[in-house]
Parts: sequence; structure tokens; C-alpha cells
Amino acid sequence: MRCLLVTGGCGFIGSNFVRFMLEHEPAIRLINLDKLTYAGNPKNLSDLETDPRYLFIKGDICDQKLVKEIFSDEGVDAVVHFAAESHVDRSISGPAEFIQTNIFGTFNLLEAAREVWLGAGRGKTSRFIHVSTDEVYGSLGEKGYFKETTSYDPRSPYSASKASSDHLVSAYFHTYGLPTLTTNCSNNYGPFQFPEKLIPLIIHNARHGKELPVYGDGKNVRDWLFVADHCRAISMVLKKGTVGETYNIGGNSEKQNIEVVDTICDILDEKLGLLPSSKDRRSLIRFVRDRAGHDRRYAIDATKIKEELGWEPEMDFETGIRQTIDWYLDNSEWIADIVNGSYRQYYSEMYENRS
Ligand code: NAD
Ligand code: DAU
Repeated sequence: MRCLLVTGGCGFIGSNFVRFMLEHEPAIRLINLDKLTYAGNPKNLSDLETDPRYLFIKGDICDQKLVKEIFSDEGVDAVVHFAAESHVDRSISGPAEFIQTNIFGTFNLLEAAREVWLGAGRGKTSRFIHVSTDEVYGSLGEKGYFKETTSYDPRSPYSASKASSDHLVSAYFHTYGLPTLTTNCSNNYGPFQFPEKLIPLIIHNARHGKELPVYGDGKNVRDWLFVADHCRAISMVLKKGTVGETYNIGGNSEKQNIEVVDTICDILDEKLGLLPSSKDRRSLIRFVRDRAGHDRRYAIDATKIKEELGWEPEMDFETGIRQTIDWYLDNSEWIADIVNGSYRQYYSEMYENRS
């Protein structure tokens, strides 16, 4: 039986992945190591607590002793590493945590894997999947796509920290022969995403008739991927990917931010009716001060993972965004718990005086 260590399994993608693996891999033991930062929510997985195959450990990937113990005592033979500080805006206002978790935390996991796996001659039977981002490649103009061979050009503290971690992962493969693989994925959306990110923030605000902040001219482009498709891609990389390789993962679904916001407004008008003022929700849109160093366009060429592993996105954006909106409408308590806490202070610091 494979013993899989998932880091950051209480976050957005991590919790979707833990659920996916327990559903699809009956013969798995899964350990979820998560520090439960503001972005980690154990409620995302509360229904799995009684599953004997699942163990949750609250802890920090930067804690050397704890990480080493988990590797040696639990017989971990695979890692899927999600744990990170993930929000670009927060990395601009406070980069220190990004350097600590994303760089040092990744290094700490690599060191534990090197010591325990390679020390015991388990290099061939183990696998370390590092989950990274397309933001390491920088920003595209109107044409072109990010390929696995595109040069790194990170431009925010977040993407620079992820780029550093990617380089460390690659170095451990080349230098020590650690069996690592890296995935670089585009923007995810779907259930359990923290409402600091564009899509859940707009759904929440539009539902409650609050202003909808769109940075700059709203024409920045992101390539949206439904989170379940990302989880399936990672599980295929875990099973069939070639050690030492990187795989780009994308949604084939480029949209300008304003298109995404308009779409959410229109679907909510259709589902909930117009605002009490009889206006439609597009009337809530406000173009606000741009993000510093805002990358203009991301777009992924996912040919390699399609040709080598047979993965393609299955969910189209129009269906996925409707499912996502329905999930947020059906899970008002989940979102209410979040926006009642420290989120309020974050929101006012980020958005007040921004127009
Ligand atoms: P998230 O912010 O929702 O969740 C991060 C999780 O990591 C949380 O549960 C948090 O508690 C945990 N964590 C943070 N610091 C930790 C530490 N020091 N020790 C242990 N746990 C810690 O993030 P997400 O959006 O789910 O992203 C997960 C990963 O996927 C990240 O590595 C991110 O860079 C990458 N990624 C995200 C996207 C996206 O669109 N969200 C796209 C591509 C890649
Ligand atoms: O590309 C993958 C990356 O996607 C991941 O590595 C990151 O972890 C993830 O956070 C995401 O980064 P983005 O910065 O692209 O996502 P975000 O949801 O913050 O913003 C999406 C776009 O929407 C971006 O162009 C900025 C814009 N935006 C965002 C917010 C929060 C707005 O216009 N208004 C907003 O209020």
C-alpha cells in the first residue's frame, strides 16, 4: 500500500486532491500535513475524519524534526507538495512568509526525503511531486504560450518564491537523484477556494450586492482550470509521470478578468433575480487601482502532459463556473465562517481607498 504525504491538504486544491485520492485509490494511506494558516480549513475534510486510511497532522513544513519523523515513522513513499502561501496580493504586502514557507519549507521536505529515502535505498520506489504555478514563467503578450522549456521570469514575490522552490526541486533531482517531478499549472477555480481569489470574491460580493473590484482595465488574461481537472492531472503525474520532468497543466480556457466577472454577474442575476435596487449586478463593477507588477496574460501549452500521460481538461468554463457558483450558494455557512473572521481586516486593508 502506498503511503502518500500530502502537504497543505486543508487548502483549496489540497482538500480537493485529498478527497479525489481517497475516492479513487482504495489501497492508499494518506497523511495530510497542514499548518492551518488563514487559508487552511479542516472543515473542508471533516467528513473524512473517520476514514481509517486518512491521518491529519497539524504542523509546519518548516519544522525539521516533525517532517523528518513523519517521513521515517510513517513509511511515506510519495509526497504531493501543495503547502504554500499562495496569494499574489498578500506576497506584495508581506513577502516574508512566502520566502519562509515556499522556499525554506520546500527545502526542508526535500532534505527529509533525501535523508530517509536515499539513505534507505528507496530512491527508485518513491516519488516527490512538487505542485507549482505557471506564474514562474512571467507574463505573456497577446500571443504565445508557456511551454515546459520557457525561461523562468517570475515577477512577484509569490512567483519568485515558487520559482526558487522549483529550482531546488530540480537541483535535488540532478544532484542527488531524488525522484522529483514538478507540475506548473494555471489558475484553478471550484469548491473550497478562499474568497481572496478573484472568482470566489466576486461570487460572494455579487451575491450580497457589494462592489466588485476589478484591477486596472480588467483585460488581464488568465487560463482557468476546474480544480477537479487539476487533481486528476496530478494523480496521473504521480502514477505515470517521468521522474525529473516537469509538466505544464492548463485549462485551454483563456478569459479576460472582466469577462469572468460579467459572466458571474449574469449567472447570479439569472439565479437570484436583480438587486433590490432593480439594477443588474454588472452595475456593481468598479475598476480599481491595479496590482503592482500585474502580469498581463498567462496561457499554457499543455501538449506534453496530453501526449505523454493522456491528460486533458474535461470541464468547460461555462459548466464549471455554474457548478462553482452553485457550490458557493449551497455552502453559505462555509463562506460566512470565513468572512466573519480576520478576512474582514484583510479585505479593508486590501480594498479600502483603492478606487
Ligand atoms: P491555499 O492558499 O488555498 O492553501 C494552502 C494550504 O497550505 C493551506 O491549507 C495552508 O494552511 C497550508 N500551509 C501554508 N503554509 C504552510 C506551512 N508552513 N506548513 C504546512 N502547511 C502550510 O493554496 P491553493 O490555492 O490550494 O494552492 C496550493 C498549491 O498549488 C500552492 O503550492 C500553489 O502555489 C499551487 N498552485 C495554485 C494554483 C491556484 O490557482 N490556486 C494554481 C497553480 C498552482
Ligand atoms: O496562475 C496560477 C496562479 O493563479 C496561482 O499560482 C496562484 O496561487 C493563484 O492565486 C492565482 O494567481 P492570480 O493572481 O492569477 O489569481 P487571483 O485570483 O488573485 O487573480 C486573478 C486575476 O484577477 C488577476 O489578474 C488579478 C485579478 N483580480 C484579482 C482580485 C483578487 C482582480 O481584478 N480583482 C481582485 O479583487
